[in-house]
This record gives sequence, C-alpha cells and structure tokens, in this order.
Amino acid sequence: MSPTRRGPPRHFLQFKDLSRSELEHVFARTRMLKTRQRDGVLYQPLKGRTLAMLFEKQSTRTRVAFEAGFTQLGGSAIYLNTKDTQLGRGEPIEDVARVISRMVDVVMIRTFEQTLVERFAANSFVPVINGLTDEYHPCQILADIFTFIEHRGPIRGRTIAWIGDSNNMCNTWLQAANLLEFHLHVATPPGYEIEATREGADSPWIKRFTDPQEAVVGADLLTTDVWTSMGREAESAERRERFAPYRVGNALLSLAAPEALFMHCLPAHRGEEVEAELIDGPRSVVFEEAENRMHTQKALMEYLLLGHVEA
Ligand code: CP
Ligand code: NVA
Repeated sequence: MSPTRRGPPRHFLQFKDLSRSELEHVFARTRMLKTRQRDGVLYQPLKGRTLAMLFEKQSTRTRVAFEAGFTQLGGSAIYLNTKDTQLGRGEPIEDVARVISRMVDVVMIRTFEQTLVERFAANSFVPVINGLTDEYHPCQILADIFTFIEHRGPIRGRTIAWIGDSNNMCNTWLQAANLLEFHLHVATPPGYEIEATREGADSPWIKRFTDPQEAVVGADLLTTDVWTSMGREAESAERRERFAPYRVGNALLSLAAPEALFMHCLPAHRGEEVEAELIDGPRSVVFEEAENRMHTQKALMEYLLLGHVEA
C-alpha cells in the first residue's frame, strides 16, 4: 500500500479548500492519470483502500465517476443512501461520521445543507469530499475548469458567462473565479440573483447582469444549468416562467467571443434551459466535461490520500 499523507485529514467541502498551487497540482495529475487510463496503463496506488459514497440525492455522473475512478486506482467503493442506512431513521450525522470514518479511507457525500458535510467532516478521521450540496458543487467545477484548460489553455484572465440560476454551480464558479483570477459574468432573472452577502460576490472578478446578451459579450465559455435544482421541485412551474428569457442557444453563443465553448454539468433539459442545437452542436464539450469528472476526482482523491505524488 502507498504511504498515507501525514497530519489531520484534508477535506474538499468547498472549491477554496484547495489553494491555487494545489489545484494546479491536481490538474497536472489529472492530465497524467487521464493519459494513463487512455493508454491502458494500470496505476493502482490505492489498493486495499475503501471509499464510502453517501447519497441523499440522486446521481448518475458523480456516482459512476467516483466508483469507477476509485476502482481504477486499485480501491473499492461502497454506495450508501439515506433510505437504506440509519441516517434515514434519524441517526446523527456526527455519529455516522465517527463510525464510517473508522472503517474507510475517504468519504464522498451528496446532500442538502452545506452544514451537513461540514458536521460530517468535523467528526471524520479521513478526508471528506463534497459531491454536491445545495450550496456548492466543487467536484463539477474542478472538471469544468480542467476541460476548459484542455481546450483553451490557462483560465487566468479569461471570461466565463454563467446564465440562469444563482445555484450551487454558480456559487462554486464564483469561488473559483476569485481563487484562479478569471472574470465571471453572471446573468440571473430578477429575484434569483447571487445573494448580496455571498463572500467574494463584490470582487473585481465578478460582474452581475440581468440581460444574458450583455453577460456573454467577450465570454470564452458560456455555461448554464437546470432552472430547478434537486430539492426545489415545488418551484419548477414558476421557475420555468421566470427563466424562459434565460434559455441559451446558438443566437446567444454568437454574441460571445469567437470559438467560445459551451458547458453544462448535466443532466440537461433540451428546449428548457438549453436549445438542442447548442448542446448537441460543435462548440459543446458537455460529454468530455462529464468524462473529466472521473479523471479530476481520481487526481483529487490521490492528492487527499497520498499528498504530492509525482510518479
Ligand atoms: N453533474 C452531476 O453532478 O451529475 P449527477 O447528478 O448525475 O451526479
Ligand atoms: N444545480 C443542479 C446540479 C445537478 C448536478 C442541482 O443541484 O440539482
């Protein structure tokens, strides 16, 4: 078994939990791990280790990316959900953390409130990774930025346009923009803006708009997400109405920088937040973005468990 990182566990609960230089290391390792996997080279530094994945919301990409990725690194993954564990019967999250983290080497959690992952991490003996909360989706932005860099080179100083809801994805882009120093243009409908109190929202890297056509000017990447995130289903009829002017399509893309890319974390609703011609068109990199979830998360887990690996 490879030596474990020393000291207290490092967690990835928000994007800014890693420094800029740590993120650069993770992106460099991602490139290496992706190439190895493409070339069919076995690399199993996590043989004998176990990942527990705790889902309180649905998932396709996050589950498969973590499970396949950890298996490729030589370890095994356990899938847990609320319904089939004592969490569903009210066991305190602190007790769940103390128990699970005595048995496994790393934990991924997808849940509702951000405070739940924080409470888990505060009681965990092993690294905890946020696999999406109502507030953040840091693993997705790791993959999105890696995908951008693969196609367009360094992201520093570039412009990303976020159109739609100021949700967990938007909040995470905001942290990333401040940390990695790129411009983030956010266009939201009235009443759905970034909260005024959100840390970093007033930095010079962030510009807020109501008009999506203004927000995409000069953008190197146009990105959006569902209008109704998991847990807000009761609001979906109203949101469909309020967000209708924020549907993204080729007409909007044509106002962005030449060669601007399109991303969406998926799942997508064609004809709702995005037109099929855009998401299925040549500027869309959504499926590479999805694949990169696995490569970036492998690099992240390698880093959290083993520290700086160069091999
Ligand atoms: N993008 C994303 O997190 O997808 P899943 O909900 O399928 O995991
Ligand atoms: N904002 C979406 C992302 C899904 C991957 C949600 O939270 O449902």
